[in-house]
Amino acid sequence: MGRVLSGIQPSGQLTLGNYIGAMQNFVKLQHTEECFFMVVDLHAITVPQEPANLREQTEAVAALFIAAGIDPSKANVFVQSHVPAHAELGWLLTTLTNMGELERMTQFKDKSEGKDSVGAGLFVYPSLMAADILIYNSNLVPVGEDQKQHLELTRDLAQRFNFRFGEYFTMPEPYMPKIGARIMSLDDASKKMSKSSPNAGSFIALLDPPDVVRKKISRATTDSGREVKYDPANKPEISNLMSIYSHCANLSMEEIEARYEGQGYGPFKKDLAEHVVAVLEPLQARYNEIRSSGEIHNILKQGAERAAVIANRTVAEVKERMGFIAPR
Ligand code: TYM
Repeated sequence: MGRVLSGIQPSGQLTLGNYIGAMQNFVKLQHTEECFFMVVDLHAITVPQEPANLREQTEAVAALFIAAGIDPSKANVFVQSHVPAHAELGWLLTTLTNMGELERMTQFKDKSEGKDSVGAGLFVYPSLMAADILIYNSNLVPVGEDQKQHLELTRDLAQRFNFRFGEYFTMPEPYMPKIGARIMSLDDASKKMSKSSPNAGSFIALLDPPDVVRKKISRATTDSGREVKYDPANKPEISNLMSIYSHCANLSMEEIEARYEGQGYGPFKKDLAEHVVAVLEPLQARYNEIRSSGEIHNILKQGAERAAVIANRTVAEVKERMGFIAPR
C-alpha cells in the first residue's frame, strides 16, 4: 500500500476541472492506498480572503470531497491548518528553497502578473505544498497538470534534504488522468477552466444547478466544421468537450466519435449536458445532506487527528536531523 496526499484550495467554487483532474482520482485511489485529502486553507490565504467566505468555503470543499465519493472510513479528510505541523515543515523547507526556483513557477507568474503588490506567501506557496506532500512521505500525488511543476520542485527539495541531512524523504510522483489532466475553459480552449475566472460561463461549478449546466454547455465555444473528432491540436474546443464527455459518461474517444458520426455538434452537446447533469445531480444531493447534517466537523476532526500522528513524527525527525534541540 502506498501513501497518497492531495489538496484543494477553498477559494471560489470547485469546478468540473477540479473533479476530473483530481477528485475522481482521489475516489479511485482510496480503495488501494492510504490516503490523505486536505482542504488547503493555509494556501488559500496567499491571496486575500474574506474571513466569512473562507469559513464557508472550507466547509463546502470538505463536504464536496465526501459528496464526490470519498469515504471517510477509508481516507483521511482534514483541513490543513488543523495539522499545524504542515506550516512548520513549510517553513523548514522554505529555508532550503532558492529564490530562483520560486521565480520560475508558472503559477506564481500567472497569479502575480499585473499586480501592484504581491504577497510573500504567494511566492513561498510551493515550499508549503512540498511540505504537505513530504510530511506523509507520500509516493503518489493525484493532481491536474497545472501542479506538475510544483511536484518537480517538491522532488528537488526532497533530494536536497536527503543529500544534506541523510536519506529520509520518499520521492513523490504525480498521478494524473491520461485525458482531462487539463480541462479548458468553455469559452476559450487556450485557457484552463478555473474557479477564479470572472466569466462564470467559462466554467461548470460542481454546485451549478442542472439548467445552468445545460445553458453553459449549449453556449460553449466550438471549432469550425461539424465533425465530433478528438484532435486537440486542430479542434481544441470540441476535444475539450469530448474530454469532459469521456469522464462523465465513461466512454473512450473512439466510442464518442462513433456515436456522433455525421450528426454535428448539436446532438453531441445536448447529450454532453445530460451526462454532466447525471454526475452532478447525485453529488449535489449528497452535498446538501452532508451540509445539513453537520457531520463534516466530526469527519474533519478524526481526519486531522490521524494525520497529525504521522505529520508530527516527520517534523520531529526533520528537526532532529537539521540540528534543532528538543525540549528536555
Ligand atoms: P487547486 O485548488 O487550484 O486545484 C485542485 C486540483 O484540481 C486540479 N485542477 C484541474 N485539473 C484539470 N483541469 C483543470 N482545469 C483544473 N483546475 C484545477 C489541480 O491541478 C489540483 O490538483 N496547489 C494546489 C493545492 C495543494 C496541493 C497540495 C495539491 C496544496 N498542497 C499538495 C497536491 C498536493 C492547488 O492550488 O490546487
